[in-house]
Amino acid sequence: MASEHEEIDPIKSNPDSHKAIGVALMILVLVGLSYALTRNGALAGALGSQTLDLITPDFRHVSAEYDPKHTPKIDCPDTVKAGEWFDVTVTIGAGAIHPSLVEHHVRWIAIYKDDVELSRVYLHPVQSYPRVTFTIALEDSCDLIAMEEPTHAAPRKSSKRITVVKPN
Ligand SMILES: [Fe+2]
Repeated sequence: MASEHEEIDPIKSNPDSHKAIGVALMILVLVGLSYALTRNGALAGALGSQTLDLITPDFRHVSAEYDPKHTPKIDCPDTVKAGEWFDVTVTIGAGAIHPSLVEHHVRWIAIYKDDVELSRVYLHPVQSYPRVTFTIALEDSCDLIAMEEPTHAAPRKSSKRITVVKPN
């Protein structure tokens, strides 16, 4: 029997206590894990339904429909010489200037030769005007496509036929 001043070792005095501590720790871990999984599942579910609500027709495809503030305006020669540099200026949009606000601006403007991207410029809002001049060269006649993506919808495009004259 332990004297009055002798320390009592709880493990020695009760050999099953270490098992009880182990079981208690395991229960705590399991409770924490199930809480985390439930919470993440709930968050994923909430975000999933929010995402579905936001996928409106505006986000489903690249639009070629005319819109004064969103349709790219392409300024460049109709006819160019093969292999010679020329400028293509794209302004957003064709009938009015698109806003350049933090919450509403043009993310990027790109040009394509038929379905091949030639160049792309990313724009920051407020201090960037939605107009870019690209300098390109072509070897064949093509449909030059200008495309822009605003912050609130899928990209919008317009095109212009460029005739390339080859040397004799
Ligand atoms: Fe817009």
